[in-house]
Amino acid sequence: MSQNTKKQNAAREALKYVEDNAVLGVGTGSTVNYFIAGLQEIRDRIRGAVSSSRASTEKLMQMGIPVLDLNEVDHFDIYVDGADEVNPALEMIKGGGAALTREKIVAAVAKKFVCIVDDSKTVDVLGRFPLPVEVIPMAREYVARELRKLGGNPVWRQDCVTDNGNQILDVHDLRITNPGELEQAINAIPGVVTVGIFSRRGADVLIVGTEDGVRVSEK
Ligand code: 5RP
Repeated sequence: MSQNTKKQNAAREALKYVEDNAVLGVGTGSTVNYFIAGLQEIRDRIRGAVSSSRASTEKLMQMGIPVLDLNEVDHFDIYVDGADEVNPALEMIKGGGAALTREKIVAAVAKKFVCIVDDSKTVDVLGRFPLPVEVIPMAREYVARELRKLGGNPVWRQDCVTDNGNQILDVHDLRITNPGELEQAINAIPGVVTVGIFSRRGADVLIVGTEDGVRVSEK
């Protein structure tokens, strides 16, 4: 079974978590794109979606799903998003698609975070995937020096400007044994907008597409 089929199966399973008249938080990436495509079938019973990126907004609008401004929504039930890595505590690395800041904001408002991945994304310890950090452009080199002091090897993602007009450093060679602590430490560096560790707000439900179907775990 291909990786894409596993992503698609995980995304289909997530549709079961959508209740009638729901407002949904929608993440970004190839796995979420399958989820957005699946919304076609239940479009009539969704009130709208809060999007985490321009790319997802465009796709939702093409499907005729109303995209709501987060400032006009004070709560909603579920946020569905992919991840680059997820550990057994349902902590994640995100930001491979450079949407980490808006993803973290939308996830913070949602009552339940449903993470959808294929089985290549599950790990025991986070850090094999280079950790994305969104930075204010003028602070890039300063932040890179501070990240080196934390043991990482930051590389500027040169072809990338985020939806917020910022830049991304991808931090290699980290073995993240205490995600909560590192999330806090990197967030505290002046010039960092968001670090792609999702520990303080991890997932509540993890749906993994595998060779044998989907595996669901809950916190
Ligand atoms: C975007 C993200 C994505 O969720 C993450 O990169 C996974 O993407 P994909 O579903 O394409 O593998 O964090 O910023």
